Amino acid sequence: MSSGIEGLDEALNGGYIRGRSVLVAGGPGTGKSIMSWHFLYDGIEKGESGILLSLDQSEDMIRSDMRRFGWDDETAVNSKLLTILAGSIRVVPQESGYEYLIAFDQSFLAEQPLTIPRLADMILRRAAESKAKRIVIDGLGPLLELAGNSFEIRQLIYAFIRDLTTDDTTVFLTHELRTIPGAVNDEMPFFISDGVIRLEMTYAQGDFIRTMRVVKMRGTDHVMRPIIFKITDKGIVAFPKTRLPD
Ligand SMILES: Nc1ncnc2c1ncn2[C@@H]1O[C@H](COP(=O)(O)OP(=O)(O)OP(=O)(O)O)[C@@H](O)[C@H]1O
Ligand SMILES: [Mg+2]
Repeated sequence: MSSGIEGLDEALNGGYIRGRSVLVAGGPGTGKSIMSWHFLYDGIEKGESGILLSLDQSEDMIRSDMRRFGWDDETAVNSKLLTILAGSIRVVPQESGYEYLIAFDQSFLAEQPLTIPRLADMILRRAAESKAKRIVIDGLGPLLELAGNSFEIRQLIYAFIRDLTTDDTTVFLTHELRTIPGAVNDEMPFFISDGVIRLEMTYAQGDFIRTMRVVKMRGTDHVMRPIIFKITDKGIVAFPKTRLPD
């Protein structure tokens, strides 16, 4: 499946693989969200609907950012080719410890305390309703934070990702790599995903150059070297033939 990014498909030997999951990991501002929107809009242009779950940006923010890159969010949402589920995690103090709730922008979901299995159910239901073939979870971080050190909840999150990935549904995950000391740095998402792409910023010749590196892509050949890319007002453009300066 095309990544929707000029220059990237050839480096991936054709693109992402249908029915598999791909994880894009990188630090803040490295382009993870924009990369996920390219994938969604590539589908939308082909009449293939998608779902975007974000737990760290409001729907309004997401849509206005999309618009700035030239994507027509209005038509995509109205035609149901794009469903945005934007929510946030709320911590509610209880007598013994805390209860974590996932509250969504859409008022009809706001009152419902959501647990991981309920969240998975909800996404699968919405995916079935809109026949979504592309599911984007932009930011595994809040979900992993919710799980804290609980092995059980982490297992539920991984089961949730596996449940979403079916024969003709492709799952695109983003994962923020944290450098904060003491942050839960879980490598499990890298192992459970079929593909992993790392977004990096490399300092060369007095400036930072954006690169992406395909760490793995089960089921296909791909280039190993860092691929230089730029973020422009049309989104991401990759330059697979250009080499990093030594
Ligand atoms: N029009 C533009 N031209 C060039 N660069 C841009 C433009 N718009 C945004 N950017 C760059 O894109 C970055 C945001 O990309 P994106 O939101 O995809 O990052 P992210 O990896 O999802 O970040 P976060 O971890 O905060 O969610 C900005 O920090 C900025 O550097
Ligand atoms: Mg983001």
